[in-house]
Amino acid sequence: MNIKQNKTELILAPLHGFTDVIFRSIFSKYFSGFDEAIAPFISTMEHKRINPVRTRDVLPARNKHLPVTPQILSNSPRDFVSLALHLFDMGHSCVNWNLGCPQLKVVKKKKGAGLIPFVDEIDAFLDFVFNEITPMKLSIKVRLGKKHPDEIYPLLMVFDKYPLKEIILHPRTGAQFYTGDADIEAFASVLKETNHKMVYNGDIIDEQFFLKIQKKFPLIKRFMIGRGALENPFLPSIIKNYSKISEQESIEKLFNFIDDLFNAYKEHKRDEKLIGKMKGFWTYFRKSFHKNEKAFKKILLSQTEKEYETAVKFFFVGARLSDH
Ligand SMILES: Cc1cc2nc3c(=O)[nH]c(=O)nc-3n(C[C@H](O)[C@H](O)[C@H](O)COP(=O)(O)O)c2cc1C
Repeated sequence: MNIKQNKTELILAPLHGFTDVIFRSIFSKYFSGFDEAIAPFISTMEHKRINPVRTRDVLPARNKHLPVTPQILSNSPRDFVSLALHLFDMGHSCVNWNLGCPQLKVVKKKKGAGLIPFVDEIDAFLDFVFNEITPMKLSIKVRLGKKHPDEIYPLLMVFDKYPLKEIILHPRTGAQFYTGDADIEAFASVLKETNHKMVYNGDIIDEQFFLKIQKKFPLIKRFMIGRGALENPFLPSIIKNYSKISEQESIEKLFNFIDDLFNAYKEHKRDEKLIGKMKGFWTYFRKSFHKNEKAFKKILLSQTEKEYETAVKFFFVGARLSDH
């Protein structure tokens, strides 16, 4: 019996600007291994206002390919509840609260990682929210702190007061953004101090690192992967031990996936936005392949759809998979 296959659950991380419903549906058409996804954050609006455009991404009818949990970014319990109940009416039974976003404009507004030091406020927030959203479930995605990695400890005591579904911890501080390594020892210490179920998130970029984390935390069953899945879309299926395909088939799959993604975004975006979007993806996708700076540069320099498509075809001529 394969232990990995039976027990491990993989969650696609929210990556604002990348893992929207178009990406999630096309990704699932080509690659397997993810059990669910958390959608990129939806910010609340003041005075409990709701803009349906903001929740289109998580419409259940558009998310049949991969179960999705909406994520909310907010420091207003009232606005949070109003949006959560709207999502409940749409058919969602769980929402995730973002306590980790490190972006300066978010942190300055005391949201995301910027709210972490305000323990009493978080306590009052959860108290209000849990009274209002039942029977909805709530999970939290959090970093170790805003500036210091020990800011999370007083929060853990607060979290223990509430029936959270789980806590997803990305063991970096907000101030670190994505620099340095995910602090595995800090994750281990947090694990000892909470009664909640924990999800590990951070730097799972290959099977080797996943196995290291799995060995270190045998009780953790759920893992979240973000950038690693964009850099190697086969990673979730490798972790799940699904059968492998040949290098040629893998390259063809990657080509068709990227082409489908481009065509899907084409229906929604104007030329310059479309090319910019695809270049963003390519900063990750290129890692699937052996280095080919010249061909990658052509993609980055493309300005029109035609130039982009020619550059991508050029990139794939003789492309080889990287060794990860
Ligand atoms: C471009 C980008 C956008 C992100 N957007 C979100 C977001 O909307 N909500 C969130 O909770 N985390 C967001 N994150 C953080 C990721 O979900 C994840 O926690 C982080 O990338 C670490 O995991 P990884 O090493 O597997 O990528 C974002 C990260 C990146 C790089």
